[in-house]
Amino acid sequence: MAIPHEKGLDNTYQLLKEGFRYIPERRRKFQSDIFQTRLLGKKVICIGGEEASEIFYDEEKFKRKGVAPNRVKETLFGKKGVQGLDDAAHKHRKQLFMSLMTPERLKDLREITRKQWQVAHNNWQKRHTMSLFHETEKVMLRVACEWAGVPLFSRELEQRTRDLAAMIDAFGAIGPRHWKGRTARNRSEKWAKNLIQQARDGKRQPSENTAFYAMAWHRDLNGKLLSLHTAAVELLNILRPITAIGRYVMFGALAMHDFPETRKKLQSGDAIYSRMFVQEVRRYYPFGPFLGAKVRQKFAWGGHQFNKGTLVLLDVYGTNHHPDLWKNPDEFSPERFKEWSGSPFDFIPQGGGDYNMGHRCAGEWVTVEIMQVSLEYLANHMNYKVPEQNLNYSMVRMPTLPKSRFAISDVTTR
Ligand code: HEM
Repeated sequence: MAIPHEKGLDNTYQLLKEGFRYIPERRRKFQSDIFQTRLLGKKVICIGGEEASEIFYDEEKFKRKGVAPNRVKETLFGKKGVQGLDDAAHKHRKQLFMSLMTPERLKDLREITRKQWQVAHNNWQKRHTMSLFHETEKVMLRVACEWAGVPLFSRELEQRTRDLAAMIDAFGAIGPRHWKGRTARNRSEKWAKNLIQQARDGKRQPSENTAFYAMAWHRDLNGKLLSLHTAAVELLNILRPITAIGRYVMFGALAMHDFPETRKKLQSGDAIYSRMFVQEVRRYYPFGPFLGAKVRQKFAWGGHQFNKGTLVLLDVYGTNHHPDLWKNPDEFSPERFKEWSGSPFDFIPQGGGDYNMGHRCAGEWVTVEIMQVSLEYLANHMNYKVPEQNLNYSMVRMPTLPKSRFAISDVTTR
């Protein structure tokens, strides 16, 4: 039995036109978790669902080297970072990231996050109207730098935040947004390289348990220090995604605004509820649309023979919204997580599978902790007004965010 084929010589235009809904919509239309299409002139197989993610994270079947397009490396990822490694080199580099995620360091992170919200809250009370999105990104970068042991002067905050935010904002962009992301990456890499050099020269002495120290002194499998450039890319692989958590915090604030009963429940102080709320924000709101990998060696799945070198896209957004896995998937309902099995393959906003062995996001625990502290803070300690504005977000723009960037005003203490 042949798998469904999307008609047309090339469907890149449809992908750009439909964004997050491109793969899920075809899975629905074809009633199939696998179909073939053509993107950027090449044959591509799209897959989605729990079984598909399990296949996608099977290292014998897929590899990552040479998968991310240059335009994504020039903005979001950087070159020679952990994302594009395979096998022993990947596991060794991944360990560098996972070694930072100890219970003690996650506790530090919660404390730092709480403290930075207090500082921001204090400042915000002196202002009239502002963008919750932009201001939260700044809070996140302060958290990121303090946790990672990176010095950040107040005068640098605006520019550095703008740069890291532009790298994130560029990932699905063509045109000016892409170029802005490239300039931002160049400037940020220069900054991070400088920092690494200073640490290696003994001009800075970050604590041994920080990301700054770890990146500066990590040795590869041959016992060599990372090149200055690679160390800088990996340090930014900590600072940039922590800044990106600002988007999820903003979406959490949007959920509290659109579904006010959730705010009330957050105010009850039930930590189990706030954890479920965080999970539902990560499931419900769109962030990454899909992930890519290339077939390492021939295998068969879902009625299809996968040939070596074929590009395969895993439907991230659609898997988090599929009715086979989630009851009423388009309803925002934190309580659904009471019944969630904890499968590593059905809830995949930050990838699936195993953290140490595969490419699943190294910062998923960091994300959940920061979101929980931040959203509890917003719900329990702050009052603010949400003026009339357009809070709709596009399902085509990648990454997406409310048109108005979520303006708030009259911040007070609750
Ligand atoms: C990988 C999403 C936050 C560090 C990934 C992947 C996704 C993702 C989808 C790719 C998984 C794959 O390729 O299979 C997100 C989202 C975040 C977030 C939506 C929150 C906004 C973080 C944070 C950190 C981080 C806070 C670090 C502190 C990484 C690293 C990788 C990664 C190092 C590469 C892992 C590898 O290739 O083995 N993330 N992430 N991420 N993430 Fe995150």
